[in-house]
Amino acid sequence: MDSIEYLTPDRVLLPFQFDAVKMLDEVKGMNLQDYIYYNVISLRAPAHLVDSSLPIPPPAEDYADGSWTDWMDTRELKQSTYLSEVVDFFKDKTKVTLVRLLRLAPGSVVKEHTDPTLALEEKKSVIRLTIPIQRDEGVSFFLNNQKVPLELGQCWYLRLTDPHRIDNIGSIERINLTIDMIPNDWVKSQIIQY
Ligand SMILES: [Fe+2]
Repeated sequence: MDSIEYLTPDRVLLPFQFDAVKMLDEVKGMNLQDYIYYNVISLRAPAHLVDSSLPIPPPAEDYADGSWTDWMDTRELKQSTYLSEVVDFFKDKTKVTLVRLLRLAPGSVVKEHTDPTLALEEKKSVIRLTIPIQRDEGVSFFLNNQKVPLELGQCWYLRLTDPHRIDNIGSIERINLTIDMIPNDWVKSQIIQY
């Protein structure tokens, strides 16, 4: 995949604050499964996975930009008024693709890795915004070996093509909301610091 000429900071705290208590209330109201290590709840996903009566899209050359499928809110998002408001805030500005809740069990680590397409520098790729919903002081997110000071309800752009890892040595599960979106001019204007 081609890269473009500007380089963004590897982390940008965006000027939006959301209500983590309201989000957590709605997450707790979902039919949460017990899990070991890591669990994902889809809030918006490829339409044919949300509604199995819909056709599977044809194979795409490139799945990074999100245009290979239609995207549809799941039942979990539709029944969550405030989470829907948070997602709608971004839907009003740009095309939102994958939206998920990422749960990391206490005592678990995600080893250092890179996600090959999730950066503004990658042409024709969605980017991912991260909003922490639940965490305690035992959760650390390292990007390029430097801790990102994630706080509840904040909204971060993270350049996930760079090496990152997560430790949860806390006593509660970590829950993040991630919202993937096409980086149009509005999104870029929030992230790029000229
Ligand atoms: Fe990652």
